[in-house]
Amino acid sequence: MAHISDERIPNNVELEKDRRLRRALEKWQPQFLDWWQDMGPEGFQGEDIYLRTATSVEPGGWAHFDYVRMPEYRWGIFLEPKEEGRTHHFGDMVGQPVWDEVPGEFRGMLRRLIVTQGDTEPASVEQQRQLGHTAPSLYDLRNLFQVNVEEGRHLWAMVYLLQTYFGRDGREEAEALLARRSGDEDRPRILGAFNEPTDHWLSFYMFTMFTDRDGKYQLAALAESGFDPLARTCRFMLTEEAHHMFVGETGVQRIVDRTCELMKRDPNEDARAQGGIDLDTIQKYINLWYSLSIDLFGGEISSNAADAFAAGIKGRYKESKRFEDHVCKDATYQLEVLEDGRVVEKEVPLRAAMNEVLRNDFVEDCQRGVTRWNKVIEKHGLDYRLKLPSRRFNRHIGAFGPAHTDPDGNLISAEEWARRRDEWLPNDADEGYIRSLMQPVYSPGQIAPWIAPPRRGINGKPFEFEYVRWKS
Ligand SMILES: [Fe+2]
Ligand SMILES: [Fe+2]
Repeated sequence: MAHISDERIPNNVELEKDRRLRRALEKWQPQFLDWWQDMGPEGFQGEDIYLRTATSVEPGGWAHFDYVRMPEYRWGIFLEPKEEGRTHHFGDMVGQPVWDEVPGEFRGMLRRLIVTQGDTEPASVEQQRQLGHTAPSLYDLRNLFQVNVEEGRHLWAMVYLLQTYFGRDGREEAEALLARRSGDEDRPRILGAFNEPTDHWLSFYMFTMFTDRDGKYQLAALAESGFDPLARTCRFMLTEEAHHMFVGETGVQRIVDRTCELMKRDPNEDARAQGGIDLDTIQKYINLWYSLSIDLFGGEISSNAADAFAAGIKGRYKESKRFEDHVCKDATYQLEVLEDGRVVEKEVPLRAAMNEVLRNDFVEDCQRGVTRWNKVIEKHGLDYRLKLPSRRFNRHIGAFGPAHTDPDGNLISAEEWARRRDEWLPNDADEGYIRSLMQPVYSPGQIAPWIAPPRRGINGKPFEFEYVRWKS
């Protein structure tokens, strides 16, 4: 087994000097590599992929590009540099120094948050493991693998926290993160959206648009944390997350662009007749992935969210920059809940509504993306507009979990839902159609007919660049 060293594992946590961590990682790293071989991208493990590797947190250092075989990717451990004198800036402990160790009373809460975040990282790799076989271009294939290796690194980031700060149970949790499997009946991943199949590229772009964006907001909330190593870890992860959302948003945008072209070519504006993905179907996948992702924020009224805010562990989006009141002790918040089958406004303590507050920022951010997609349709001179469904639509948890609504959020009966579900969410025929389009295109500069090429390539390279080099 390879000796664990700063050379093998780029880091800024003085790994060479930290004997305990080195020991823990020496045991965990081979298990990680086994997991990567079993559950990482199927095929392609021997190919040379043009990837970005983080080798330091300095500007420029975190974006080093070169050809690398995925199993030889240097998964590293990086925290943003420590800010001396940092204090809690929200919750009950405002003004007190932040923690460099886990405080006993919040150990359970912190462990749960870190494990839940950590679990999503390998889960998404598992969900996406078949996609390489149907990539629409080498550019997209490379982007998929970039996302995959970075989710692998995010797992490392959470494992670092577990192994360094949580002793034996941290080491056990680190192993359990490699043992659960997305979609498995007996040992599923922790959160719903991470057990859904992402087995074609339309779902992949929707996932990276909406579900990775949930990740951005969860990480941003934890980046405010008074547990300093967690805050510093999450801040660095956010730099990588931006690319994942770029892949999703521009992926959908390129499909929309191509669809519009095909519509204009068809006498009935029928994109499917021209071998493309029609806008109605794109809308259904928006409905699906947006609603799955919005569930990830948790219930509208949550004592866990209130406790995490009070403890200074999970803040609001850009907590330090955006709000006047960072304690929120007596403040209240108005939100919608379901009571006796009716939507009613309810005033609740603000701390208990923190999930909803974070969800608001997510919704706004998603809307900006959808607006950009609609600009593309407008440019083509077409009248169709895509939209986000109501946040009540297709919920599985929270106030609207038990209800059925149409995409506008109007309450409907279970019968109507059963009858009309297929108008609003992808049905078997849609899935079958999308899968039928998924034929791989592996020649540099070529692209599948259902998606437009990107406007520019990666790291200043053109679209035609050979982003993946076949060895076998
Ligand atoms: Fe991630
Ligand atoms: Fe991500």
